[in-house]
Amino acid sequence: MLLQEAMEAARRAPARGRVADYIPALAQADPTAFGMAIATVDGAVFGAGDWEHPFSIQSVSKLFTLALALALADGGDELWRGVGREPSGNPFNSLVQLESENGIPRNPFINAGALVVTDRLLKLTGDAVGAVRDFLRAESGNPAVAVDDSVASSEAQHGHRNAAMAHFMASYGNLRNPVDSVLAHYYAHCAIEASCRDLALAGLFLARHGTRADGSRLLSRSEAKRINAVLLTCGTYDAAGEFAYRVGLPGKSGVGGGVLAVLPGRGTVCVWGPGLDAAGNSVLGVAALDALTTATGWSVF
Ligand code: DON
Repeated sequence: MLLQEAMEAARRAPARGRVADYIPALAQADPTAFGMAIATVDGAVFGAGDWEHPFSIQSVSKLFTLALALALADGGDELWRGVGREPSGNPFNSLVQLESENGIPRNPFINAGALVVTDRLLKLTGDAVGAVRDFLRAESGNPAVAVDDSVASSEAQHGHRNAAMAHFMASYGNLRNPVDSVLAHYYAHCAIEASCRDLALAGLFLARHGTRADGSRLLSRSEAKRINAVLLTCGTYDAAGEFAYRVGLPGKSGVGGGVLAVLPGRGTVCVWGPGLDAAGNSVLGVAALDALTTATGWSVF
């Protein structure tokens, strides 16, 4: 009921945004698709609309790569030497700060920062994309979560900006693996297909202060707090201020149109609508989260 009302409120907003087309395979997404799911810390999940329809998770994957890299890294100091945790105030694919800041990206959620995190996860596991995919499968209980190879190769063929950033960072010694391997793992984890249901369940470890679905601990309470903090300040790029203002929750968006938001201690909300605003965030998704959190008061504030 709450979800349907939030979706109806979002549909009343005049703008719909534009489907991402810089990755040609994503241009085929249905601009009218719209779904929403809520998962609670005890593992219950509810949905409305296209909430069980898989979509390309794109940058939503970046919160999972960060969590897995921090879980495996010894304390995280090495990781945080290679990537900052300040908002960039620039688009997600911007190169401008990288040179003046010596090849250290501002945060783990812009593309440059996510490439560094993928590189470290690859070093730690030998299979960064497999680690993300398996984590999503385990937490969602859905063994069908998988990489869409056609999306990964479509992005690889048009990924000149990401390749430029990766080579540039390699020139500063900020990658531990060959550039081509880092890019391949990055494109593949962005090209994982999952639904609102799957992502809402998979993000619950952040609402459970670091604890996984099976009760084991992925992150310490303070690491989970830190990831939520960086999601709030950097998860929606140069629109993170507007997202915090409207939604009041830590969240991560992707150009496939997904947005995953976390209410620590309570649960997660995942929304999918492929039309994007200029910052690359789902127009319907942010509007639905705005409506839901405004109606319910669910917020970290
Ligand atoms: O690297 C890219 O451009 C895409 N694989 C991911 C970008 C993305 O999802 C940005 N999010 N809003």
